[in-house]
Amino acid sequence: MRVKNKKRFLIASTGLAALVILVIVVLTIGIWHSNEKLAEAENNKNTQTTASLKVTAAKEVKTIANTQSAVMGKPAQTIINEEIKTSNEVDTTPAINSTATDSITILVNKNHSISSTYVPDDLVTVDLPSTRNTQLRSIAAEGLTKLFAAAENAGFELYCCSGYRSYATQAELYAWNVETYGVDGAELVSARPGMSEHQLGLAMDVTSAAEGFDLLESFGSTPEGLFIKENAHKYGFIVRYPEGKTNITGYAYEPWHLRYLGVDVATEIYNSGKTMEEYFGSN
Ligand code: DAL
Ligand code: ZN
Repeated sequence: MRVKNKKRFLIASTGLAALVILVIVVLTIGIWHSNEKLAEAENNKNTQTTASLKVTAAKEVKTIANTQSAVMGKPAQTIINEEIKTSNEVDTTPAINSTATDSITILVNKNHSISSTYVPDDLVTVDLPSTRNTQLRSIAAEGLTKLFAAAENAGFELYCCSGYRSYATQAELYAWNVETYGVDGAELVSARPGMSEHQLGLAMDVTSAAEGFDLLESFGSTPEGLFIKENAHKYGFIVRYPEGKTNITGYAYEPWHLRYLGVDVATEIYNSGKTMEEYFGSN
């Protein structure tokens, strides 16, 4: 009798255990399946959202293209294709200085010189108030004209003092500075021939009547000098030799020396608070 009971107990326990295992297995499969369903549903939802966004955007593009088509007389599809092409184009222009002498972003300093024979081929005489006749490359002259107009609108009259200088003129100037201040003094205020931005036709020294039309450090704290400091970049120029950066630029503070770089690079340099050397990572 005892043996029989033991046997029954064993059969019942085994049956119960099997039942529990079965329930666990069924539940696990159920949870796994519902998770999969949830993920699938989430995926569908995202796809639908993206698809509906695409549809909305496409509708907008089509509406704009239809309007432009009516104005420009071009088929709407041509405008859409042009739009797609433009939005797929990636600007790969590197934000680095070019070493081509004709590049408006070329870095010229005590370590980067240009040929003694280099003369820009697009020099124009600047048609602005000046202490003497002077030239710039045409694109820089355009920028300077806009800068002078903005200054005038703000109530300031600026004067051009010295723009393009040939290699020979720079050699004379440097020699005069050496004679007057000695080599060490000259090195702080004058570039050696072949090392001046003035030979690029991309630099202009500017002054004002209040400064006696001279090039003085005090210009930097006059209203004209402050206007230049805060606004030159909007027209493509930077104050190339800022205060307190002699250890980097190699030159004393020159609030009058403007270097043309184009609006984009000049604005980036202005916003960065860096010198041209720091911005381009090159001494
Ligand atoms: N005064 C600047 C450094 C030049 O001579 O180009
Ligand atoms: Zn200068």
